[in-house]
Amino acid sequence: MNKLKIAIQKSGRLSDDSVKLFKECGIKFEVGKSKLKSTSRNFPADFLFLRDDDIPGYVEDGVADLGIVGKNVLVEYGNDVESIKELGFSKCRLSLAVPREVEYPGVEYFQGKSIATSYPNLLGQYLKGKGVDAHVHQISGSVEIAPGIGLAEGVCDIVSTGGTLLSNGLKEVETIFKSEAVLIANNKLSDEKKELLEKLLFRINAVQTAQNHKYVLLNAPNDKLQQIIELMPGMRSPTITPLAQEGWSSIHSVIKESDFWENIETLRKWGAEGILVIPIEKMIS
Ligand code: PRP
Ligand code: ZN
Repeated sequence: MNKLKIAIQKSGRLSDDSVKLFKECGIKFEVGKSKLKSTSRNFPADFLFLRDDDIPGYVEDGVADLGIVGKNVLVEYGNDVESIKELGFSKCRLSLAVPREVEYPGVEYFQGKSIATSYPNLLGQYLKGKGVDAHVHQISGSVEIAPGIGLAEGVCDIVSTGGTLLSNGLKEVETIFKSEAVLIANNKLSDEKKELLEKLLFRINAVQTAQNHKYVLLNAPNDKLQQIIELMPGMRSPTITPLAQEGWSSIHSVIKESDFWENIETLRKWGAEGILVIPIEKMIS
Protein backbone atom coordinates (compact mmCIF):
# COMPACT_ATOMS: atom_id res chain seq x y z
CA MET A 1 0.00 0.00 0.00
CA ASN A 2 1.14 3.52 -0.73
CA LYS A 3 2.03 5.78 2.14
CA LEU A 4 3.44 9.25 2.48
CA LYS A 5 6.63 9.62 4.48
CA ILE A 6 6.46 13.01 6.15
CA ALA A 7 9.50 14.52 7.85
CA ILE A 8 8.96 16.98 10.68
CA GLN A 9 11.33 18.59 13.15
CA LYS A 10 12.00 16.46 16.20
CA SER A 11 12.26 19.34 18.62
CA GLY A 12 12.50 23.05 18.13
CA ARG A 13 10.62 26.01 16.75
CA LEU A 14 8.74 24.03 14.10
CA SER A 15 7.85 20.82 15.88
CA ASP A 16 4.78 21.71 17.98
CA ASP A 17 3.05 23.66 15.24
CA SER A 18 3.83 20.99 12.65
CA VAL A 19 2.26 18.31 14.82
CA LYS A 20 -0.69 20.61 15.55
CA LEU A 21 -1.31 21.19 11.83
CA PHE A 22 -1.60 17.46 11.10
CA LYS A 23 -3.83 16.91 14.13
CA GLU A 24 -6.13 19.71 12.97
CA CYS A 25 -6.25 17.92 9.63
CA GLY A 26 -7.63 14.92 11.51
CA ILE A 27 -4.46 12.85 11.06
CA LYS A 28 -3.74 10.87 14.19
CA PHE A 29 -0.28 9.70 15.21
CA GLU A 30 1.80 9.30 18.33
CA VAL A 31 4.50 11.74 19.27
CA GLY A 32 6.98 10.52 21.83
CA LYS A 33 10.25 11.98 23.07
CA SER A 34 12.30 9.01 22.00
CA LYS A 35 10.32 8.23 18.87
CA LEU A 36 12.00 8.60 15.48
CA LYS A 37 9.08 7.30 13.48
CA SER A 38 5.34 7.03 13.93
CA THR A 39 2.64 5.54 11.73
CA SER A 40 -0.71 7.28 11.46
CA ARG A 41 -3.73 5.25 12.52
CA ASN A 42 -6.15 6.88 10.12
CA PHE A 43 -4.19 8.34 7.18
CA PRO A 44 -1.66 6.55 4.95
CA ALA A 45 1.37 8.34 6.36
CA ASP A 46 4.50 7.67 8.35
CA PHE A 47 5.97 10.55 10.28
CA LEU A 48 9.73 10.85 10.66
CA PHE A 49 11.08 13.06 13.44
CA LEU A 50 14.36 14.61 12.31
CA ARG A 51 16.71 17.56 12.80
CA ASP A 52 15.31 20.44 10.78
CA ASP A 53 18.60 21.01 8.97
CA ASP A 54 18.52 17.45 7.64
CA ILE A 55 14.96 17.59 6.30
CA PRO A 56 15.56 19.23 2.88
CA GLY A 57 18.27 16.66 2.10
CA TYR A 58 16.07 13.72 3.06
CA VAL A 59 13.21 15.06 0.95
CA GLU A 60 15.53 15.63 -1.99
CA ASP A 61 16.83 12.05 -1.75
CA GLY A 62 13.34 10.60 -1.35
CA VAL A 63 13.98 9.23 2.15
CA ALA A 64 10.95 11.39 2.95
CA ASP A 65 8.25 12.39 0.44
CA LEU A 66 7.22 15.55 2.26
CA GLY A 67 8.72 17.73 4.94
CA ILE A 68 8.07 20.82 6.94
CA VAL A 69 11.08 23.13 7.27
CA GLY A 70 11.88 26.75 7.86
CA LYS A 71 12.26 28.75 4.67
CA ASN A 72 15.62 29.86 6.09
CA VAL A 73 16.98 26.31 5.99
CA LEU A 74 15.46 25.63 2.58
CA VAL A 75 16.90 28.73 0.93
CA GLU A 76 20.27 28.42 2.65
CA TYR A 77 20.85 24.83 1.51
CA GLY A 78 19.21 25.31 -1.89
CA ASN A 79 18.11 21.68 -2.16
CA ASP A 80 16.35 20.49 -5.28
CA VAL A 81 12.88 20.01 -3.80
CA GLU A 82 9.47 21.38 -4.60
CA SER A 83 8.20 24.13 -2.33
CA ILE A 84 4.47 23.42 -2.02
CA LYS A 85 3.04 25.89 0.45
CA GLU A 86 3.96 28.48 3.05
CA LEU A 87 2.29 27.48 6.27
CA GLY A 88 2.16 30.75 8.17
CA PHE A 89 3.63 29.47 11.45
CA SER A 90 7.07 29.41 13.10
CA LYS A 91 7.78 32.87 11.79
CA CYS A 92 11.27 34.15 12.51
CA ARG A 93 13.95 36.25 10.87
CA LEU A 94 17.61 35.98 10.05
CA SER A 95 19.33 39.03 11.47
CA LEU A 96 22.70 40.60 12.02
CA ALA A 97 23.50 41.40 15.63
CA VAL A 98 26.37 43.09 17.42
CA PRO A 99 27.38 43.52 21.07
CA ARG A 100 24.93 45.78 22.87
CA GLU A 101 27.53 48.50 23.58
CA VAL A 102 28.44 49.03 19.92
CA GLU A 103 27.27 52.33 18.45
CA TYR A 104 26.00 50.96 15.20
CA PRO A 105 26.34 53.33 12.23
CA GLY A 106 24.74 51.17 9.53
CA VAL A 107 25.63 48.08 7.56
CA GLU A 108 29.05 49.55 6.61
CA TYR A 109 29.97 48.72 10.21
CA PHE A 110 30.66 45.18 9.04
CA GLN A 111 33.23 46.23 6.40
CA GLY A 112 36.41 44.26 7.12
CA LYS A 113 34.90 42.66 10.26
CA SER A 114 34.16 39.02 10.94
CA ILE A 115 30.66 37.62 11.34
CA ALA A 116 29.79 34.19 12.75
CA THR A 117 26.82 32.39 11.22
CA SER A 118 25.28 29.06 10.26
CA TYR A 119 23.84 30.76 7.16
CA PRO A 120 26.87 31.63 5.00
CA ASN A 121 24.91 31.66 1.72
CA LEU A 122 22.09 33.95 2.82
CA LEU A 123 24.55 36.21 4.60
CA GLY A 124 26.98 36.22 1.67
CA GLN A 125 24.23 37.26 -0.75
CA TYR A 126 23.09 40.01 1.56
CA LEU A 127 26.57 41.44 2.08
CA LYS A 128 27.26 41.31 -1.63
CA GLY A 129 24.07 43.24 -2.34
CA LYS A 130 25.14 45.90 0.14
CA GLY A 131 28.70 46.05 -1.20
CA VAL A 132 30.13 45.11 2.18
CA ASP A 133 33.24 42.96 2.33
CA ALA A 134 33.30 41.00 5.59
CA HIS A 135 34.79 37.74 6.74
CA VAL A 136 32.04 35.15 7.13
CA HIS A 137 32.94 32.61 9.77
CA GLN A 138 30.75 29.54 9.42
CA ILE A 139 29.91 27.63 12.59
CA SER A 140 27.20 25.04 13.04
CA GLY A 141 25.65 26.10 16.35
CA SER A 142 25.80 28.37 19.41
CA VAL A 143 26.50 31.29 17.10
CA GLU A 144 25.41 33.77 19.76
CA ILE A 145 28.45 33.15 21.93
CA ALA A 146 30.93 33.99 19.14
CA PRO A 147 31.46 37.69 20.04
CA GLY A 148 31.81 36.87 23.74
CA ILE A 149 34.67 34.44 23.10
CA GLY A 150 36.40 36.67 20.59
CA LEU A 151 35.59 34.56 17.55
CA ALA A 152 33.73 37.26 15.63
CA GLU A 153 32.63 40.86 15.95
CA GLY A 154 29.04 40.20 14.95
CA VAL A 155 26.66 37.34 14.35
CA CYS A 156 24.04 36.52 11.78
CA ASP A 157 21.46 34.19 13.30
CA ILE A 158 17.80 33.30 13.60
CA VAL A 159 15.78 35.52 15.92
CA SER A 160 12.23 34.86 16.99
CA THR A 161 11.57 36.18 20.49
CA GLY A 162 14.96 37.86 20.70
CA GLY A 163 15.62 36.14 24.02
CA THR A 164 18.81 34.44 22.88
CA LEU A 165 20.39 37.68 21.67
CA LEU A 166 19.36 39.52 24.81
CA SER A 167 20.80 36.96 27.19
CA ASN A 168 24.07 37.01 25.27
CA GLY A 169 24.48 40.77 25.39
CA LEU A 170 23.74 41.27 21.68
CA LYS A 171 21.38 43.58 19.81
CA GLU A 172 19.72 43.06 16.46
CA VAL A 173 20.80 45.63 13.87
CA GLU A 174 19.68 44.37 10.45
CA THR A 175 17.05 41.89 9.31
CA ILE A 176 18.27 40.10 6.23
CA PHE A 177 15.65 37.38 5.63
CA LYS A 178 12.11 36.62 6.85
CA SER A 179 11.19 33.02 7.39
CA GLU A 180 8.23 30.81 8.16
CA ALA A 181 7.41 27.11 7.92
CA VAL A 182 7.05 25.68 4.40
CA LEU A 183 5.75 22.36 3.18
CA ILE A 184 8.19 20.80 0.71
CA ALA A 185 7.93 17.72 -1.47
CA ASN A 186 10.23 15.41 -3.35
CA ASN A 187 10.37 16.27 -7.06
CA LYS A 188 9.58 12.79 -8.30
CA LEU A 189 6.53 11.68 -6.30
CA SER A 190 4.60 8.77 -7.81
CA ASP A 191 1.07 9.46 -9.01
CA GLU A 192 -0.35 7.64 -6.00
CA LYS A 193 1.67 9.80 -3.64
CA LYS A 194 0.66 12.93 -5.53
CA GLU A 195 -2.95 11.95 -4.95
CA LEU A 196 -2.31 11.58 -1.23
CA LEU A 197 -0.58 14.96 -1.23
CA GLU A 198 -3.69 16.49 -2.85
CA LYS A 199 -5.84 14.98 -0.09
CA LEU A 200 -3.54 16.40 2.53
CA LEU A 201 -3.49 19.84 0.88
CA PHE A 202 -7.27 19.90 0.73
CA ARG A 203 -7.35 19.43 4.49
CA ILE A 204 -4.57 21.94 5.17
CA ASN A 205 -6.40 24.55 3.10
CA ALA A 206 -9.64 23.92 4.98
CA VAL A 207 -7.87 24.39 8.31
CA GLN A 208 -6.03 27.52 7.18
CA THR A 209 -9.09 29.15 5.61
CA ALA A 210 -11.03 28.49 8.79
CA GLN A 211 -8.31 30.09 10.90
CA ASN A 212 -8.47 33.23 8.75
CA HIS A 213 -12.24 33.58 9.17
CA LYS A 214 -14.81 34.04 11.94
CA TYR A 215 -18.46 33.13 12.16
CA VAL A 216 -20.48 36.20 13.10
CA LEU A 217 -24.04 36.36 14.46
CA LEU A 218 -25.79 39.63 15.12
CA ASN A 219 -29.18 41.31 15.46
CA ALA A 220 -29.98 44.31 13.29
CA PRO A 221 -32.92 46.54 12.42
CA ASN A 222 -34.56 45.46 9.15
CA ASP A 223 -34.02 48.81 7.44
CA LYS A 224 -30.24 48.21 7.59
CA LEU A 225 -30.32 44.61 6.34
CA GLN A 226 -29.31 45.37 2.75
CA GLN A 227 -26.23 47.37 3.79
CA ILE A 228 -25.16 44.65 6.20
CA ILE A 229 -25.57 41.92 3.59
CA GLU A 230 -23.28 43.87 1.27
CA LEU A 231 -20.72 44.39 4.01
CA MET A 232 -20.52 40.72 4.98
CA PRO A 233 -21.59 38.60 2.05
CA GLY A 234 -20.28 35.42 3.69
CA MET A 235 -19.58 32.31 1.65
CA ARG A 236 -22.58 32.48 -0.67
CA SER A 237 -24.82 34.92 1.16
CA PRO A 238 -25.68 35.45 4.82
CA THR A 239 -28.53 33.68 6.60
CA ILE A 240 -31.29 36.07 7.70
CA THR A 241 -33.89 34.98 10.25
CA PRO A 242 -36.60 37.25 11.67
CA LEU A 243 -36.46 37.89 15.40
CA ALA A 244 -39.61 37.50 17.52
CA GLN A 245 -39.46 41.27 17.98
CA GLU A 246 -40.93 42.96 14.94
CA GLY A 247 -38.63 45.02 12.70
CA TRP A 248 -35.49 43.08 13.67
CA SER A 249 -33.56 40.19 12.13
CA SER A 250 -30.73 37.92 13.08
CA ILE A 251 -27.89 37.70 10.55
CA HIS A 252 -25.34 34.89 10.38
CA SER A 253 -22.30 35.22 8.18
CA VAL A 254 -18.60 34.52 7.79
CA ILE A 255 -16.08 37.32 7.90
CA LYS A 256 -12.34 37.54 7.30
CA GLU A 257 -10.33 37.86 10.47
CA SER A 258 -8.36 40.72 8.91
CA ASP A 259 -11.55 42.78 8.25
CA PHE A 260 -12.95 41.97 11.63
CA TRP A 261 -12.47 45.12 13.73
CA GLU A 262 -13.14 47.51 10.89
CA ASN A 263 -16.44 45.85 9.99
CA ILE A 264 -17.59 45.45 13.56
CA GLU A 265 -17.36 49.21 14.04
CA THR A 266 -19.38 49.89 10.90
CA LEU A 267 -21.99 47.35 11.97
CA ARG A 268 -22.40 48.99 15.35
CA LYS A 269 -22.86 52.34 13.63
CA TRP A 270 -25.71 50.78 11.66
CA GLY A 271 -27.41 49.68 14.85
CA ALA A 272 -26.27 46.07 14.98
CA GLU A 273 -26.29 44.58 18.46
CA GLY A 274 -25.84 41.26 20.23
CA ILE A 275 -22.81 40.58 18.09
CA LEU A 276 -21.23 37.14 18.60
CA VAL A 277 -17.96 36.16 16.96
CA ILE A 278 -17.15 32.45 16.90
CA PRO A 279 -14.02 30.64 15.70
CA ILE A 280 -14.43 28.22 12.80
CA GLU A 281 -12.73 24.85 12.94
CA LYS A 282 -12.83 23.81 9.27
CA MET A 283 -13.97 25.74 6.23
CA ILE A 284 -14.53 24.38 2.75
CA SER A 285 -15.75 26.89 0.22
C1 PRP B 1 17.76 29.77 16.64
C2 PRP B 1 18.96 30.63 17.01
C3 PRP B 1 18.78 30.88 18.47
C4 PRP B 1 17.29 30.86 18.66
C5 PRP B 1 16.73 32.25 18.71
O1 PRP B 1 18.05 28.42 16.75
O2 PRP B 1 20.17 29.99 16.73
O3 PRP B 1 19.37 29.85 19.23
O4 PRP B 1 16.73 30.17 17.54
O5 PRP B 1 15.40 32.27 19.15
P1 PRP B 1 14.90 33.41 20.15
O6 PRP B 1 15.06 34.74 19.44
O7 PRP B 1 13.44 33.09 20.39
O8 PRP B 1 15.71 33.33 21.40
P2 PRP B 1 17.15 27.29 16.03
O9 PRP B 1 15.83 27.20 16.71
O10 PRP B 1 17.14 27.52 14.56
O11 PRP B 1 17.92 25.98 16.41
P3 PRP B 1 18.87 25.07 15.52
O12 PRP B 1 19.91 26.00 14.96
O13 PRP B 1 19.37 24.08 16.49
O14 PRP B 1 18.01 24.48 14.44
ZN1 ZN C 1 18.22 24.16 12.78
